[in-house]
Amino acid sequence: MNKKIKKAIFPAGGLGTRFLPATKASPKEMLPIVDKPMIQYAIEEVMACNIKEFIIITGKYKRSIEDHFDSAYELEENLRKLDKKKLLEEITRHNHLDFAYIRQKAALGLGHAILCVKPFVKDEPFAVLLSDDVIEPEETLLKDMIKLYEKLECPILALEEVPMTDIHKYGVIEGADLGNGLYKINNLIEKPSKEKAPSNLAIIGRYILTPEIFSILEKLTPGRGGEIQLTDALRELLKKQTIYGYLFKGKRYDAGDKLGYLKATVNFALKNAEVSEAFSKYLLDIAHMLKNKKHHEDKTHQ
Ligand code: G1P
Repeated sequence: MNKKIKKAIFPAGGLGTRFLPATKASPKEMLPIVDKPMIQYAIEEVMACNIKEFIIITGKYKRSIEDHFDSAYELEENLRKLDKKKLLEEITRHNHLDFAYIRQKAALGLGHAILCVKPFVKDEPFAVLLSDDVIEPEETLLKDMIKLYEKLECPILALEEVPMTDIHKYGVIEGADLGNGLYKINNLIEKPSKEKAPSNLAIIGRYILTPEIFSILEKLTPGRGGEIQLTDALRELLKKQTIYGYLFKGKRYDAGDKLGYLKATVNFALKNAEVSEAFSKYLLDIAHMLKNKKHHEDKTHQ
């Protein structure tokens, strides 16, 4: 098997139900966080790792993702004529990359989405990024995972410690702490209840996978939510192969959720050179107003 990770896979075929009605006819992945669609943050994370082959798994109503990463000849010409160099650079920065799109014909789950890339990945290891897990751009999570993979040659899952009140939203692992953020995984459960969760270590949307996963996914029966679950396939894989977890210590936003999306927007806006100053002033005004409101409410309740 080839050791080098050359391809990154972006499952984007989901229905985006948590964002309806916004996602009725347009993809969740294209919702902007300040001025970039959500998926672009994940794409740029991969670009920073020097990976140049991108496979996006799409579905119905997802065309705009393809248009977004395509070259836009007319727009480029216009920006050139107007001498808008910065914007031109901004919209052409993906033009040299190879994007391939695979349609997931039905939204049958993350495991099913991964299985769709089998004919194109063949015997290579690959990275998987779930674009609604948005992480701070300066973090080197994927880079670290790739380095670890090159040493260990086993699948690696990104982990995060989450509050037990949120544990039911994630795939959860049971593992042995090997130090330096590395875990040897002994078991995985998809979205367990608080009572059944083996730990507070949740899988977050960055994976390094190996092609052994495909034959397992092919035979897998639907799991939680009636979907083909990647977590179930990984549990099966554990019988044959070691799987590691790598603890992420940086900032992550669950931008697939309304509150997480709003938090990501606020944080990225505060870092955006164009709006940060005015926006932070605005936030301070809002905070002041909320504080007064709460003070008033507390007083009337006394
Ligand atoms: C998926 C996976 C889950 C993982 C999560 C990370 O769930 O099935 O194991 O913990 O992504 O974001 P989803 O959020 O798509 O329901």
